[in-house]
Amino acid sequence: MTYAKITGWGKCVPPTVLTNAEISNFVETTDEWIVSRTGIEERRVTHVQLSELATLAAKRAIAAAGLQGSDIDLVILCTASGDSLIPNTASAVQRNIGAHQAAAFDSNAACTGFLYGIQMATALIQNGSNQRAVVIGADRLNYFINWADRASAVLFGDGAGAVVLEASTEKSGMIASKLGCDTEKRDILEVQGPGTYVDRFHTSACYNVAFEGPEIFKRAINGMNGACTSALESAGLSGDDIDVIVPHQANLRIIQTLAKKMGVSMDKVMVNIEKYGNTSAASVAIALCEAVEQGRVQPGSNILTAAFGAGLTYAGMVIKW
Ligand code: ACO
Repeated sequence: MTYAKITGWGKCVPPTVLTNAEISNFVETTDEWIVSRTGIEERRVTHVQLSELATLAAKRAIAAAGLQGSDIDLVILCTASGDSLIPNTASAVQRNIGAHQAAAFDSNAACTGFLYGIQMATALIQNGSNQRAVVIGADRLNYFINWADRASAVLFGDGAGAVVLEASTEKSGMIASKLGCDTEKRDILEVQGPGTYVDRFHTSACYNVAFEGPEIFKRAINGMNGACTSALESAGLSGDDIDVIVPHQANLRIIQTLAKKMGVSMDKVMVNIEKYGNTSAASVAIALCEAVEQGRVQPGSNILTAAFGAGLTYAGMVIKW
């Protein structure tokens, strides 16, 4: 049996911090409202292109794996905010990291994208098509924000995270997953517009992140809970076998409710939403990197990850470290 072991991880969060207090200078909101409703204290913002964030995260993951860019034969960039519609942004990352022989494509499952990417890379490694993949979750949703709309202005941060997966006979990497898409309400979270291409006809000012928060809140918990239960069942594990849970960081209250519903203590749950806000496809990737950096993940650890995003996509996944 071939597995896709995670051998490297890295993140790139832009250095510019935007605090709740700073946001309250230009829209009617308060630090107290944002912290109590979401758990977010600050987020990172950038004007650099998505490919630059993604490249840095990928380079760090490849270095942590002890590899060169030229060792990588597959680049999957999970994002909803690529540099342009055509060509794909993964090809810029492939070039930047020197993975000249690698296949490269973008994948958009919004905030769930990174877990969809891990599933795809694992399948391609397991069927022998690829040996060493880099999967990147990266987004700069702040590009799409209408900064006069307080509902969305407070929620999102920019960033990127990446992992390297390598073919291995050791039982490790993704061992079970459940991906899905709750399309009944697919229009309750959307960004309409032409894409991130900017020229004299298009500017970022034409965008707006439109969403129905309370409905997403409910569906996020149900979607992630169902997917996690199903992934645990496929892995033959129970919540007690899980060492750390790494959920999508959209709202601290969603994370707490999910943990309660699953009957697991918050001590087991990785939370970093206070520093970064919702970084969309980068969210689970950055949280996973930080869980490793903090020593919460050790060789052999069982990790349960979960995500939910526009579409409405959802995923639950068990990863053995
Ligand atoms: N500051 C102050 N007041 C605000 C703000 C703000 N930034 N934003 C909204 N409000 C007001 C609203 O206008 C409303 O006022 P009203 O009662 O006078 O009409 C009141 O706060 C309550 O608004 P709700 O939208 O009901 O607030 P809620 O408690 O649901 O919190 C939130 C909103 C944080 C978005 C929550 O619904 C949520 O986290 N939803 C799920 C995640 C989500 O939707 N994320 C965005 C999409 S991306 C994703 O993660 C899938």
